[in-house]
Amino acid sequence: MAEFSLPKNSRVLVGKTWPRPADAKNVRAFKIYRWNPDTGENPRIDTYYLDMDSCGPMILDALIKIKNEIDPTLTFRRSCREGICGSCAMNIDGINTLACIYGLDEVQGDVKIYPLPHMPVVKDLIPDLTHFYAQHASIMPWLETKTNSPAQEWRQSIGDRKKLDGLYECVMCACCSTSCPSYWWNGDRYLGPAALLHAYRWIIDSRDEATGERLDELEDPFKLYRCHTIMNCAKTCPKGLNPAKAIAEIKMLMVERRA
Ligand code: SF4
Ligand code: SF4
Ligand code: FES
Repeated sequence: MAEFSLPKNSRVLVGKTWPRPADAKNVRAFKIYRWNPDTGENPRIDTYYLDMDSCGPMILDALIKIKNEIDPTLTFRRSCREGICGSCAMNIDGINTLACIYGLDEVQGDVKIYPLPHMPVVKDLIPDLTHFYAQHASIMPWLETKTNSPAQEWRQSIGDRKKLDGLYECVMCACCSTSCPSYWWNGDRYLGPAALLHAYRWIIDSRDEATGERLDELEDPFKLYRCHTIMNCAKTCPKGLNPAKAIAEIKMLMVERRA
């Protein structure tokens, strides 16, 4: 039977307010989502205060400062700190983006930080991306060939290589898919903008020899056609990519091959 109310322990409570730094003149508040699966407690919003005169310029700098100097239990992913690994994706001031390349000066007032929306949470700011990665794997994100491998390498013209611009730069951060309403409601069957952008990247690769099979796989009422061109994906992508355009191109290819 359908369940119309949220489980009791899903309500986000007001959490702990940590002390303000002594003698600091330039102080800013950070309101951060906390949830620890081991305690059985509800999620909560903790408030931290940072001396901005001794903090780096990015949201990730503030998170690292909180973890190092105030609360070592605050949990988040990060690695490259330059927008390449995609691991620090989170919801900052209502926007899905990468904490390491989002400036503190881009947020007005208190800084509110949540995990990426509509994903199960592993802990604090860490979403469970297992399903997201499985969907990525399902589109065969590699070169599929049938002819014998060349002695040296698969060649590609400069023009054909250029067709991959705006696609290969994706860092699999999941900001787009987790901002997509269609993915929120049908994420179990709709592949979402990130996986579909990657699907298109391989469909139009001049060296790939499985284009027909790739399109066959996507010819499904849910996998591809749940995109309703709402464009949240393109708006939020921290790498400036346009998954909606890639999805529209796949739909065009579907139409062309039916004609
Ligand atoms: S354009 Fe498509 S993929 Fe992008 S947010 Fe909208 S429905 Fe989702
Ligand atoms: S398309 Fe952009 S937002 Fe989506 S996963 Fe790739 S880099 Fe992240
Ligand atoms: S830490 Fe790698 S993208 Fe932010």
